[in-house]
Amino acid sequence: MTLKIALLPGDGVGPEVLAQAVKCLKAVEETFNQHFIFKEAPVGAIAIEKTGTPLPDATLTLCKESDAVLFGAIGDPKYDNDPDAKVRPEQGLLQLRKELGLFANIRPVLSHPTLLDKSPLKKKVINGTDFVIYRELTGGIYFGEKKLNPEGTVASDLCEYSENEISRIAHLAFKAAKGRKKKLTLVDKANVLESSRLWRKVVTKIGESYPEVALDFLFVDNAAMQIILNPKQFDVILTENMFGDIISDEGSVIGGSIGLLASASVGEENALFEPIHGSYPQAKGKDIANPIASILSVAMLLEHFGLAEEAWAVKKAVDKSLKKGIVTPDLNENSQYGTNQVGDFIAHNIVDIEDDFRMNDENIDLGKSTII
Ligand code: IPM
Ligand code: MG
Repeated sequence: MTLKIALLPGDGVGPEVLAQAVKCLKAVEETFNQHFIFKEAPVGAIAIEKTGTPLPDATLTLCKESDAVLFGAIGDPKYDNDPDAKVRPEQGLLQLRKELGLFANIRPVLSHPTLLDKSPLKKKVINGTDFVIYRELTGGIYFGEKKLNPEGTVASDLCEYSENEISRIAHLAFKAAKGRKKKLTLVDKANVLESSRLWRKVVTKIGESYPEVALDFLFVDNAAMQIILNPKQFDVILTENMFGDIISDEGSVIGGSIGLLASASVGEENALFEPIHGSYPQAKGKDIANPIASILSVAMLLEHFGLAEEAWAVKKAVDKSLKKGIVTPDLNENSQYGTNQVGDFIAHNIVDIEDDFRMNDENIDLGKSTII
């Protein structure tokens, strides 16, 4: 298979982690005889500096002409701390999602057996967690009308959803649940918000066509509590844009580091793959950012194109790095391994996927290994 992949490294640690993802795709090319054509383009703060806009036309055109987009990260503190800034890096990502019609953002949340003690939550609570968040990505309060009165003293953001926007992602979420543990939880605020009541109505109706999937509902405040009280109760969580943004960061605590969570954003025509973490500006250029979320986004990309064996090889290689303690400092503060070394190790293990572990994995504590 030949795939055209647009590379959008973006800001902060984006370029560093994306470089590791590309190494892994090259390892997949080498091992499985696939062919990827990479083209890079600027987005975010870096694009504002170069062109005055966070999503230059040439970048958007490249993305539209590609089979998939691999995204690094976006954001710069310079803009975060300036409420009057007219252009913001994040607008680039939001516009890209909208222009490419990427209405469903899929974020798996898993506990990894080797990393159970990295989470501040109790092992017995998180062990065995395996759920996936389907976050609506091109509607709601993110994209509704924004107003600020001339005095700059009153502001509003409209949260609007149409039946069609709800139903297209609901179908994807029900199909996913059908292939998993057959449970779908709609997270909303239907006790207060009209838009949430529409979500309930539409999702309940669609649920009738998926009788094998058990549907339940949770208010978002309760869901925020349940996700850390008893994350194992979830299978597929379906929710609107902003609730999904918030609970997916919360979910990352279960995995032990936000540097592990990957995501896929899909639409009718296009697909984009990115880590859920931000640009982590404090770590920029220090070779300490965890590349695993970006590498697991590659696994999601491969799965999206039906390359199941290739995706498995990438995940297996990531597992191996976790088991052998070839990890960045977010997972082991004494780690000697940097972003690049972790990327090299994982890419190397994709190539050598048949290699047997030379050590007894069960006896290796995270961070104690010296193998690379
Ligand atoms: C995410 C991010 C983005 C969002 C930002 C960078 C605009 O937090 O992908 O979760 O809010 O969607
Ligand atoms: Mg977010």
